Amino acid sequence: MKITVVGAGFVGATTAQRLVEKNLGEVVLHDIVEGMPQGKALDMMQSACIEGFDSLIKGTNSPADYEGSDIVVVTSGLARQPGMSRDDLLAKNAEIVGGVADNIKKYAPNAIVIVVSNPLDVMTYLVAAKTGFAKNKVMGMAGVLDSARFRWFIADELKVSPRDVDAMVLGGHGDDMVPLTRYSTVSGISIEALIPKDKLDAMVVRTRNGGAEIVKLLQKGSAYYAPSASTVQMVQSIVRDEKRVLPVAAYCDGEYGIKGQFVGVPAILGKNGVEKIIKLDLTNDELGQLQASAAHVAKSVSTLKI
Ligand code: 2OP
Repeated sequence: MKITVVGAGFVGATTAQRLVEKNLGEVVLHDIVEGMPQGKALDMMQSACIEGFDSLIKGTNSPADYEGSDIVVVTSGLARQPGMSRDDLLAKNAEIVGGVADNIKKYAPNAIVIVVSNPLDVMTYLVAAKTGFAKNKVMGMAGVLDSARFRWFIADELKVSPRDVDAMVLGGHGDDMVPLTRYSTVSGISIEALIPKDKLDAMVVRTRNGGAEIVKLLQKGSAYYAPSASTVQMVQSIVRDEKRVLPVAAYCDGEYGIKGQFVGVPAILGKNGVEKIIKLDLTNDELGQLQASAAHVAKSVSTLKI
């Protein structure tokens, strides 16, 4: 397997590191900054004998090196600064990510693409439109991250292992994402039976602001440990054809009453990319929230110049 990571900033480089440490394939790390991806790749290779991986990683400034990629992860673009919403990044990142999409189309026409750049759902739409790839082969990473944040808050509140907590966050990767408490459990026990409603409501709000909380703490840049871990879980499910059921920004063609849009929904990820969107039974309120979030994404998409 050949996996290309575009953008060697914190998210891209940490993703590349996790990929080689898990021996998921040969990795190409691309960035426009000269020397930087090469330096990071060399540094990672020098950890191979200690960490015990034999996957190779190559740093490059040339998109021609995408050639033959099975998977391309797009992390390029500006990260949020304190006080900025993900939407504030739209115009600038559309320019950067649009250029990356052109390169993917040219050099890696058979790749499955996972978009990580923000605003996530809009950038995923842009990459799908610019590459013209089959819709199952383009997706965005956000639901896994948003759910992981919610899972951690639940584990921390109940003082249980995060591994025993499952949660589902749907919708766009924005302030109106939809954490589904009804579909969140601790070893099969509904969290609604374990956590009082007022506390749960506060955790939903904290999840929605999960990215901003970290941006505010860091002051410079945004989260990358959990975003890279989430991305790699998606890559692994595709590379190993694991058929994991994960919330991802997938192309909806009428599912949940959403048409022609990429938005976070539960999907099966396997060797063909998004192999199936799972239809959860939602209450009117949950469905309304998901559709409102999708409408917000659609509004931003309509401002794109493609
Ligand atoms: C996050 O949620 C920046 O969107 C990214 O951390």
